[in-house]
Amino acid sequence: MKRLLLLTALIILAMFSLADARVKVKGRGNNMTFDPDSVSPSVRPSLDLLSRKCVKCHSMEWTVIAIQTGRAPITGQPFDKQAVKAYGIKMLRKPNTDMSKQEIREIVILLNHLIDENRK
Ligand code: HEC
Repeated sequence: MKRLLLLTALIILAMFSLADARVKVKGRGNNMTFDPDSVSPSVRPSLDLLSRKCVKCHSMEWTVIAIQTGRAPITGQPFDKQAVKAYGIKMLRKPNTDMSKQEIREIVILLNHLIDENRK
């Protein structure tokens, strides 16, 4: 019994240390988003923008996976700062994104910030 407890504690500890290495998220499925506490206050308004605008066609999960793993989940391309910029431009060109150039710019800055946070 004691052993089992120890094992459970170890597994939980391992999970926490793994989670710590990555930028934190809140919620699950369609409600998933980056934890506002894990980004600097200056980009929090952009996080709000991201949570509203980037879930129109797909859930936040793709963005979270891309940031946390450094790989875009659909195309399998590396998701670095270069890719963020390219994706931003791609978004601008997509019809019905309902986003202005300024909003895309803000989100690109935020995603770059998240990439940095994730590497810490
Ligand atoms: C107009 C619909 C639409 C909106 C709005 C949208 N996306 Fe996407 N997104 C897509 C589609 C479609 C794909 C599938 C691959 C592609 O076309 O790039 C995708 C793919 C992705 C991927 C995976 C890219 C890859 O190469 O695997 C990420 C990350 C992503 N979107 C993030 C975002 C972010 C961040 C926003 C907000 C700025 C956003 N999306 C808003 C339609 C949208």
